[in-house]
Amino acid sequence: MNTQTSLSSSRAAAPLPRIAVLATGGTIAGAAADATNTAGYQAGVVGVEQLLSVVPALSTVAHVVPEQTASIDSKDMSMPLWTTLAQRVNALVAADDIDGVVITHGTDTLEETAYLLHLTVKSDKPVVLTAAMRPASALSADGPLNLLNAVTVAANAAARGQGVLVAFNNKIHSARDVVKTSTYAVDAFQSPEIGALGWVQDGRVEFQRSVVRAHTRATEFVIGANWPHVEIVASYAGVSRIAVDALVTAGVRGIVVAGTGNGSIHASLAQALADAASQGVAVVRSSRVGSGHVMRNGAAADDALGFVSAGSLNPYKARVLLMLALAAGATGPVALQRAFDMY
Ligand code: SIN
Repeated sequence: MNTQTSLSSSRAAAPLPRIAVLATGGTIAGAAADATNTAGYQAGVVGVEQLLSVVPALSTVAHVVPEQTASIDSKDMSMPLWTTLAQRVNALVAADDIDGVVITHGTDTLEETAYLLHLTVKSDKPVVLTAAMRPASALSADGPLNLLNAVTVAANAAARGQGVLVAFNNKIHSARDVVKTSTYAVDAFQSPEIGALGWVQDGRVEFQRSVVRAHTRATEFVIGANWPHVEIVASYAGVSRIAVDALVTAGVRGIVVAGTGNGSIHASLAQALADAASQGVAVVRSSRVGSGHVMRNGAAADDALGFVSAGSLNPYKARVLLMLALAAGATGPVALQRAFDMY
């Protein structure tokens, strides 16, 4: 008797991980009139079952449990849908029979949704977002491989405890760092300066670094339906104070400014923001540059004006954190700066 054969045949095959796939729409679920059209298509029209059906290899990686959570173009992402999605992900990762979650999403606001979940999912189980730059109907659509790679990452034990991840074009990014950097390239997502966490290719998953800042179970944030009103303004040549004054009149709780360079702000806008801060509006300085970080007490003298520095968060992610921090009861620049230094 061949001992090797008898040992391996008596060993039961390990059951495949059970991965929930939540579809929300986007180009990955987009369809155009013909296969060569990669720009004139409708996002979010292909259902989750059809997305899965074109990737038979999924059945070798995981037992996939599909759900159609939404069918939108992600430019139209809303706070109520964020609440629904985050609550659903939290419910799934709390279930014993789910080992991880994959979310298919539009690329346009993916980095915002990913960071929101990174701060509000209460589990070590992998949660992986993916997307596509070409519609499902396109020649060389990138969605099927991105979906297979996302499920492969979610099914891999090394992804546990890494926070919310984005699997895109063979790279694995942290939700905190990743940003969309191209309007058309299939390599549209980067983690500026810091780089990706790792890679996924041909079924192999490798992490080369991990996330240092607090996330998922280690945050104070719990998803709810209370979204403090926070808006974004930009600093640029000749900017006026009109937008800031209108926002204060409208009753915003916070304003994120996409400043120039190291979060510097045009004098007219800085005065308007200082006036807003003196009325209790939270003001966070970020940068429109696209990489690097905004250092506290730079040109805008944060201490004197009551401003907060966003560090390395871009304006859109800074807005997510500011809304969550305000909803959690943080008030004043000291408490808010602590949140930006921690997350
Ligand atoms: C969207 O964000 O829903 C449309 C664009 C895309 O997914 O690339």
